[in-house]
Amino acid sequence: MAEGKNRISTGIFGLDEITSGGIPLGNQVLIAGDAGTGKTLLSFEILYRNAKINIPCTFITLEERRDSLLENIKSAFPYFDDMEELLESKLIILEERETINAMNSSENWQVFIASINKTLQSNKSKILVIDSITTLRALAPNDRVFTRSVDYMIENFRNLGINTIVTLETAWPLGKTTAGLYGTYMFDGIIKMHEVDVSGSSQYLIKIMKMRQSDHVKASMPYEITSKGLNVFK
Ligand SMILES: Nc1ncnc2c1ncn2[C@@H]1O[C@H](COP(=O)(O)OP(=O)(O)OP(=O)(O)O)[C@@H](O)[C@H]1O
Ligand SMILES: [Mg+2]
Repeated sequence: MAEGKNRISTGIFGLDEITSGGIPLGNQVLIAGDAGTGKTLLSFEILYRNAKINIPCTFITLEERRDSLLENIKSAFPYFDDMEELLESKLIILEERETINAMNSSENWQVFIASINKTLQSNKSKILVIDSITTLRALAPNDRVFTRSVDYMIENFRNLGINTIVTLETAWPLGKTTAGLYGTYMFDGIIKMHEVDVSGSSQYLIKIMKMRQSDHVKASMPYEITSKGLNVFK
């Protein structure tokens, strides 16, 4: 679970193996997938595992209020009993951001991103989660503005040398129209999470669509969400 030479370990059981050792330092990663497949929990667990080894992190929620998100996480992961200490010591900063005016103009968007930068600097964060950008699409006038805004945000975090994980709700397969993004070229890595029906019961599958600088596993791997965290099976 240690930070490798050139990589951030995800700390998720089975996930480092299929990404050939974790996420390359400075990579910008998109976690895209169906509703309710664990995008929020997976991205939070990556921060939790890294904070536990003294890597400062920030989680920005654009969807839920901070308190309700924290309650959901605690209810899903009752075994993460040192979460309050990690929050108090600011190894994890968990903040909500109001998005209602963020997409009104490029100036507003720049102010919005600058306020996140300030938070990142306050604890010298190495890893950032933005959960999620789905709501921003509804606030953007069109796909072009949405794509340009996400691109600006990603380039900003890339320049800071931060590992960013952005979540986005999409239908499977990742189509041209589903996500509202013209392209996913700005991301170094894309992780897909989805749900399939296997003999009448539901099965979660995770797939590394791309991970630059990594010889990653190409197949879809089953995973489960447990009270001790996510488990990915090979
Ligand atoms: N307390 C819990 N106990 C067991 N499983 C839980 C619990 N809370 C959440 N889960 C599991 O986690 C899933 C939701 O996880 P999460 O909120 O991370 O998904 P998401 O992909 O972010 O969803 P959304 O599209 O709504 O943002 C649920 O569908 C459920 O399977
Ligand atoms: Mg979510």
